[in-house]
Amino acid sequence: MANQKYIIGNWKMNGSLNSKGLVSEIDDFCRSKLGDKVAVGICPPFPLIGLVNEWSWESPINVGAQDCHFKESGAHTGDVSAVLLKEIGAKIVIVGHSERRANHAETSQLVCDKAKAALVAGLKPVICVGETDEERKSGNAIKVVLNQIEQSCPAENANIIVAYEPVWAIGTGNVASPQDILEMHNEIRAKLIEIYGQDGQKIQILYGGSVNAKNAEEILQTQNVDGALVGGASLKAPDFIAIIDAALKVSN
Ligand code: PGA
Repeated sequence: MANQKYIIGNWKMNGSLNSKGLVSEIDDFCRSKLGDKVAVGICPPFPLIGLVNEWSWESPINVGAQDCHFKESGAHTGDVSAVLLKEIGAKIVIVGHSERRANHAETSQLVCDKAKAALVAGLKPVICVGETDEERKSGNAIKVVLNQIEQSCPAENANIIVAYEPVWAIGTGNVASPQDILEMHNEIRAKLIEIYGQDGQKIQILYGGSVNAKNAEEILQTQNVDGALVGGASLKAPDFIAIIDAALKVSN
């Protein structure tokens, strides 16, 4: 049986106290249409997590964070623990996004520790992997991504989500081809089964990188694509709703 589709909005360093309208529009749609075949998440910047949770109170939307520290508390200026995120209402947390791997020198080992901390706190980690343009052009995309999976996913706990986001497709409008997405998602599925046994079948594998209202349906109907991690298009209610709608359509 196919996995439930999951559409997650990654606001990155966007959004403000004025984002209530955006959340309300998405929330209205989710309350009336979502059902149980599709799940929706919104990951705003840290200071907005509590507010987005309030703005979507008792809604099917899962609010989440874009990062967490691997420790529960302590002298880590500027960092936020998974424990606190859980306390303020987060359900999911993105870890190892390529922007964090590149801009904050995060290694797969660190990403794995963050994912473990999330699991201990009761959050579902969305573990991001993806190759650079150079790695794809040199024919190493699959090897790079499978290595990242092996090193970033905690082998003892399958309660994770994986997001495949080719770095060159993020924020560029250059979406990966359906064949490339199919090939990579099949490889990732096989690796997850190798690590987790049959539980690896149930792990949702999301695609991310320039997903928009127009291309979502084709991407979401690809085998082993269990949803999307959406950046730019998650900041516009009609676009994000159209992507959720595409997930509903391909799930029926
Ligand atoms: P994008 O970003 O949809 O703007 O390409 C996706 C992401 O970085 O998660």
